[in-house]
This record gives sequence, structure tokens and C-alpha cells, in this order.
Amino acid sequence: MTHQYDVLVIGSGASGLSVALQLAQDARVALLSKGPLQEGATLYAQGGISAVLDSCDSIESHVQDTVTAGAGLCDLEAVRYVVERGRESVQWLIEQGVAFTRAEPKVGGIEYHLTREGGHSHRRIIHASDATGRAIENTLEDRVRAHPSIDVFEHHLAIDLITAAKFGLGAERCLGAYVLETGAHRVLTFEARFAVLATGGAGKVYLYTSNPDVATGDGVAMAWRAGCPIASMEFFQFHPTCLYHPRAKSFLITEAVRGEGGRLLLPDGSAFMERFDARAELAPRDIVARAIDHEMKRLGLDFVYLDISHQPTDFILGHFPTIAARCREYGIDITREPIPVVPAAHYMCGGVVTDRYGRSAVPGLYAIGEVAYTGLHGANRMASNSLLECLVMARAASMDIRKHLAGAPRVPSVPDWDETQVTDSDEEVVVAHNWDELRRFMWDYVGIVRTTKRLQRASRRVQLLRDEIIDYYGNFRVTVDLIELRNLVQVAELIIESALQRKESRGLHYTLDYPLPDASRPPSPTVLRRPT
Ligand code: FAD
Ligand code: SIN
Repeated sequence: MTHQYDVLVIGSGASGLSVALQLAQDARVALLSKGPLQEGATLYAQGGISAVLDSCDSIESHVQDTVTAGAGLCDLEAVRYVVERGRESVQWLIEQGVAFTRAEPKVGGIEYHLTREGGHSHRRIIHASDATGRAIENTLEDRVRAHPSIDVFEHHLAIDLITAAKFGLGAERCLGAYVLETGAHRVLTFEARFAVLATGGAGKVYLYTSNPDVATGDGVAMAWRAGCPIASMEFFQFHPTCLYHPRAKSFLITEAVRGEGGRLLLPDGSAFMERFDARAELAPRDIVARAIDHEMKRLGLDFVYLDISHQPTDFILGHFPTIAARCREYGIDITREPIPVVPAAHYMCGGVVTDRYGRSAVPGLYAIGEVAYTGLHGANRMASNSLLECLVMARAASMDIRKHLAGAPRVPSVPDWDETQVTDSDEEVVVAHNWDELRRFMWDYVGIVRTTKRLQRASRRVQLLRDEIIDYYGNFRVTVDLIELRNLVQVAELIIESALQRKESRGLHYTLDYPLPDASRPPSPTVLRRPT
């Protein structure tokens, strides 16, 4: 079965919902999500969105903080472009109906409460309590579902992009995607004049992650197979503070807890962050995560503590109701006791190389949000800059697509998905085992602290897995697990290769073999290109 649209948006987080809404006045849009519409990193975002809203703050300061956190690898033009559009992006969300937490009383004439996170030298994080992503996702979902020009396809998993070159259909261009309708187990063809990848990150490539299950790097893998360059994959961000509890899966304790005075403690109650950085708990994330990792290894700990209990109970429950409620489920009262925390894989700073309009190297294909590499984050993303990037780049891409819509070529008829050579799998267990193996060795060998030997070990293992998966993929009917594993293996390969190429420590990439930044040449991003 074939669907035809002006624009195919793959992903329904902050970036996908925003771009769909901004296109819908001029285009017919198909919006895909591989699970329920809400499921993605956006839903779980806690801290908020960074933007210069306070008159004591400045664009210059936000730019400078971003560049400092990015450890010499930010693209200054990209940083300016995104930071300068912070206020209008937040304003757009307010117009859509997002109810941000208000300041009572107003501070410095601002209506909204601004919190603080690591790396920011001002209070500039606007938030909806400690569930900012849920407020955004709920509001934009309502808008999208009510729009007559947007058709929503939940439980539709994009398998691969369809490109003209692949089928000998003229000049290179993205023509749409093959999509698995997961409930019906059938593969559909979505033809579109433009496609937007808004597929989010890839935290599931690691054993421990703050990310939801859908974060399997599908967008990066699809774009790579379609011939797009992929940059900066060695910079995978580990969030310093995820809840440590045997029953708690992927629950983040927002950095805003530290922004509001939370201290990191060892089991004996002593603070340790000052030993690692003068900014202590509010140092950028790479430094805090590494410090925790160091202390855990030094003392043989399974976790450290994050303590906010010295603040008044009303203050804690007012600012962090979601965290307090979730911790209570596990028997932890955050108003009275410290929270056990560990670092976990959180954010993919690298991705599909795009320009200022979100355009990838393949004409007609855009990438926005966490899947994209714009140059904003450099070697380490500063907290709460990613939702901002989602919003700014959704707007940029929508403007560009609308400008080119009338002149875009018609999509030629493309062949249907071919299942004539495959059968149903007789060994699903292989896929499950390979998932586990991949995530375990990525955690052990390609984590917060790396060495060349460990990376080489990971490289050998990922090649073996890749060969097995290619063989499996070629012989059996596709399933969700198989498609995701194929993509995760691809993403792992890109992370390992990028990490091996960087012979220095910088930002989130820290290797014991090259513990310092390479001062002998100007820093540049690692860009991988698929051999043709
Ligand atoms: P997502 O919101 O992850 O959405 C991805 C979408 O793509 C989903 O709809 C998914 O179904 C779909 N998808 C994926 N693959 C396919 C496929 N093959 N076919 C069809 N659909 C597909 N950033 C901040 O700036 N501030 C914060 O406070 C903050 N807190 C965070 C807290 C947590 C726990 C996490 C995990 C991240 C946080 N981040 C935060 C990061 C930020 O939330 C994400 O970077 C951002 O939400 C990504 O948005 P997105 O639209 O790119 O992707
Ligand atoms: C957090 O709330 O700590 C997450 C913020 C982010 O990832 O930007």
C-alpha cells in the first residue's frame, strides 16, 4: 500500500510535532511515531528550555556558556543562530498553550520562574515544574491531532529512506520511506516530496540510559545508509544523576536539583565536587559525570548521593513534585534523605550533518532535533539547549520547505517493499542476545572513560555483530526488534569509529591514552562518510 504526502515527518517529539504544525498551513503532512505518539525523550524532559528571558542575562552570555561547555568544538554561527531565537521559540510554545511555571512574586519583571543548570552562568531555564517535556508534548499533541492537514500514524516504524539513486530514478533526492505498520506486520510505502527525520537519540545503545525504549538511533542509521555524512558521534553525553534503584528503569533526577542547591555526597556524607571543579555541582555535565565515575571506581561504590533535603519541604515539593512522587514509590523521601544516583547515557551530541535550515546532504531530506548535528553542542551539550534546538530547527526547516514546496519535483512511482526472498525468523532469540551483548560492551568499553584498547575490542565485537545482523536481515521478515538492532549496531559502529579517530580528550570524549586536548592543531569535528 502506498501513501502520498507533501511532507513525511518521522518522529513526534518536540521537533517532529513543531515542524508538522508549522508546515501544516501550506502542506499535507504525514507524522509517524514508532510507538504511541507521546513516547520519546521529549515526554521525559524535566529541567526545561534555555533561553535569554531575564533582562540581566544576555545573548552573548548564553553563547559564551554554550561554547565553553562545548570545549572548543561548537560552530559559533550555529550557536548564535539558535541562541538568538530562544525568546521567540518560547513565545511560540506559550502561544500554543504550554503552561510554564510562573514566578511568584515576579523576579526582575519576568512572569516565569527561571531555574539554573550546569554550565549556565545565569538563571535562564524556563520550565513547567519538573515535567517540562510532558507539558510540551501534551500541548503540541492536542494541536497536531486537531489539525486537518496532519495525518498521524502511530505504531509506524520507518525502516529505510527511499532515495532516487537507489532505484535509478533520476537525480539524487529523498522520495519517502518504507514503513512497518507494526500492528499489521506489513510494510507500507510513504512517498513524499520532502522528508524530515525527527527521530531523536540513541541512548539504548548503552546498557544504562535515561532514554526511553524508542531511542535506538534509527534516524542516524537510515541517513547513513542513504549516504548522509554523520558527525561527532564520539560525544555521547552521560547524565550525572539517574536514580539508582533495582526497580527504577531510566528515571532521571534533573540537573535543576543541583541548580536549586542539591549537593553530591559520598556515603560518609562528604561533598566531593569541589575537588574536581571550582563550579562544583554546577560544572558542565561531562565534568560532573566523570567526577562521579571516578569516585565510584575509587571507592568501589554502586552509586553516590544527591541531597536536596536541606531545603524547606514546601520548596522541594513545589519545584520537584514528579521526582518526589517517583522516589516515594521506591521508599525514598527526598525531603528527608539523599537520593542514590548514578550516571547514565543521556544525549547524542552527534548526528546527521545539517545546515542552518536543517537540510542534510540528500536533497529533500531534513534532520532536526537530537538526530541532527548542527554544530550547536560541540563536544558537550549544555543542559536544556536541546529542546531549544528542536524548536529553532523545526522552525528553520519548516520555513525552508515551505519556500521550496511549489517548485519541488513530483515523486516518481517507487517499487513496493520486496519480501519475496525472506521467511519468518526461526531464531528470534539471536536478536535478543545480540541486543544485550551490544549494550553491555558499549557500556564497558565505550563509556565515560575510554582507552584505545577498549575501543578496539568494541570495534571487533561490533563488526561480528554487524555481519550476523546483515545475514539475518537478508533472510528473515523484518520485526521491530530486528530493525532496531540493525540500527543500534550501525550507531555503535559510528560511535566507536569516531572515538578511535579522536586522538585526544575533549568534552565528553575522555581517553586515558590521550588525557589532554590536542593543542597542536585547531579542533575540528569528526565527520564520517559512507564509502561509495
Ligand atoms: P524525541 O522526543 O526523542 O522523539 C523521537 C520520536 O521519533 C518519537 O516519536 C519516536 O517514536 C520517533 N521515532 C524514532 N525512530 C522512529 C522510526 N524509525 N520510525 C518512526 N518514528 C520513529 N533537553 C532539554 O533541553 N531540557 C531538558 O530538561 C531535558 N531533559 C531530558 C530528560 C530526559 C529523561 C531525557 C531522556 C532527555 C532530556 N533532554 C532534555 C533531551 C531532550 O529531551 C531531547 O533531546 C529532545 O526531547 C529530543 O526531541 P526530538 O524531537 O529530537 O526526539
Ligand atoms: C535535566 O533536567 O537534568 C536534563 C536537562 C537536559 O538534558 O538538558
